[in-house]
Amino acid sequence: MERRTNSPYPRIDRPVLAIVGLVLVLSTVMFTKNDREHEWRYYQHEFKTVVEQKYGAEKAALVPAGLQQIWVPALGRADRCMTCHVATRWPGFEGAEEPFRTHPSGILKSHPPETFGCTSCHGGQGWAVDVDPAHGPIEHWEEPVLGATLGESYSLVENKRALMQINCNTCHRYDRETPGADFINLGKQLVRDKGCRACHTINNRGGTIGPDLTFVGDKAPEQYDFSRLSGQKTAFAWHVAHLKEPKALVPDTVMPNFHLSTKEAQALATLIMSWRRAPVPAAFIPGVPRTDPRTPAEVETETRMKTGPGAWFVQTGCFVCHSVKVFDVVSPAQIGPDLSNAVEDVQARFGRTIDDFLASPTGTMSVVLSRQIVLTPEQKKIAIGHLREAFAEYQKQKATGEKPVASH
Ligand code: HEC
Ligand code: HEC
Ligand code: HEC
Ligand code: HEC
Ligand code: HEC
Repeated sequence: MERRTNSPYPRIDRPVLAIVGLVLVLSTVMFTKNDREHEWRYYQHEFKTVVEQKYGAEKAALVPAGLQQIWVPALGRADRCMTCHVATRWPGFEGAEEPFRTHPSGILKSHPPETFGCTSCHGGQGWAVDVDPAHGPIEHWEEPVLGATLGESYSLVENKRALMQINCNTCHRYDRETPGADFINLGKQLVRDKGCRACHTINNRGGTIGPDLTFVGDKAPEQYDFSRLSGQKTAFAWHVAHLKEPKALVPDTVMPNFHLSTKEAQALATLIMSWRRAPVPAAFIPGVPRTDPRTPAEVETETRMKTGPGAWFVQTGCFVCHSVKVFDVVSPAQIGPDLSNAVEDVQARFGRTIDDFLASPTGTMSVVLSRQIVLTPEQKKIAIGHLREAFAEYQKQKATGEKPVASH
């Protein structure tokens, strides 16, 4: 057998190996120790003790041990919240403190965690197993748990837990009403009552005077101009302030002040934040057809007005913002003044004839006539004709003592 020649170098491999080995052992010990210190071990241990006291050792043996994970490939979620929230599916702990409280069961019947996970409703960082990283808000993590703690810091009125409804509505956006989502439902009601669609397209329906709002919830915080906003600089706070007084944040806007209460503005802001591209497959989006259609009553009223003496105002789209009471045209939103007496009113307010006003309109009408309803000079003549007809009718009705203008 051949004999190897002795190495000319000093033999240091053994001490090096010894040191590497020692480091490995030490790091394993430290890693294990750190891991044992995770809060979740404490919560699981606590819960097991509570179950044992309440139901005996046999039941306590059923308390899951170790990391719990719900993997929902369709939603791209791996949620470990149940690692601490051990009682989620454990009846009998409805009155306990978190994380040992039984989950409200109704909502989980229609949305089983196996198919929905936890974060699709609650937000939060699904794979985290420590409290702060799981709940947020922490740095570089944009999606904190939308719970009472965050609701408190956003000064929500009445329902501190309402922010979660942002997530409900990314799936339920086509519902007219969603039981369990009171803020969203109020927001949707206001969108109808205040006539936001007069100027904004939402779900493919509406005007073009303001920006399309269908996916406005995707706007990144950096895209907001916070320079005129005092207090918290969040997208939510921006929308609440903007809804309450649009001109305070965007001085040259034509968006009207709707005199909303704080709750109404917060409900609308919650709805606005929910208008995102849903990161979920179509099967998770309830509601058919997907266009939030108008009710038969709304369609019927419009059809009736389209054939009456005020048909032109309806067909041209003026009625989206204006009533013309003398012709029985009633605007759902009444964003602008009743046009029955516009001939006289324009003269009184602006010191201009109606012809002059329509030829070179100011304020909201300059935006309307340049972006949403573009009229040729001939069509403007027709418009003036109809406005004069309305005014003639107005004077006639006034002479007989009727109240010919829709009240605001
Ligand atoms: C379909 C939506 C949905 C899913 C999925 C869901 N929850 Fe909930 N969760 C709710 C609702 C609704 C409430 C009740 C909120 C309220 O009282 O206003 C709730 C309440 C809670 C609470 C109590 C919150 C509080 O403010 O007191 C915790 C904790 C919780 N859920 C954890 C979980 C965990 C963990 C999972 C996953 C296993 C999960 N949830 C899955 C909708 C959901
Ligand atoms: C390491 C343990 C732990 C993990 C992991 C964990 N939680 Fe919690 N959670 C708690 C504890 C403890 C409380 C009660 C104290 C508190 O509010 O911080 C709580 C409270 C809550 C509340 C009520 C508080 C609020 O702000 O409304 C919600 C909702 C909640 N958790 C959701 C979740 C969700 C969703 C996940 C998964 C992304 C999750 N938790 C992961 C321990 C945990
Ligand atoms: C990931 C998408 C998704 C999320 C998030 C979601 N839902 Fe649903 N929800 C659904 C689907 C899908 C259905 C089943 C619809 C059907 O059967 O037509 C449903 C059904 C419902 C129903 C009808 C249940 C029944 O018994 O018929 C209600 C009410 C409801 N959801 C409320 C909520 C609330 C409140 C939230 C937020 C806490 C929420 N949903 C979050 C997708 C979602
Ligand atoms: C008369 C027209 C008009 C009406 C009615 C109107 N808006 Fe606006 N809105 C605008 C214009 C113009 C802008 C762009 C300038 C600004 O930000 O104010 C705007 C901006 C917005 C923005 C910010 C969009 C973005 O990309 O930052 C939101 C959100 C919004 N409107 C919501 C609403 C809601 C909700 C309603 C109903 C309560 C409503 N608007 C009614 C004209 C209108
Ligand atoms: C998106 C909403 C909207 C639409 C659509 C709209 N208007 Fe207006 N209009 C307004 C608002 C708001 C005012 C009040 C402007 C102001 O006071 O500066 C107004 C004012 C007017 C005035 C002046 C009325 C007065 O009494 O001072 C006339 C005339 C008028 N509009 C005609 C029309 C006609 C004609 C159409 C259809 C071709 C139309 N408008 C469509 C929002 C609208």
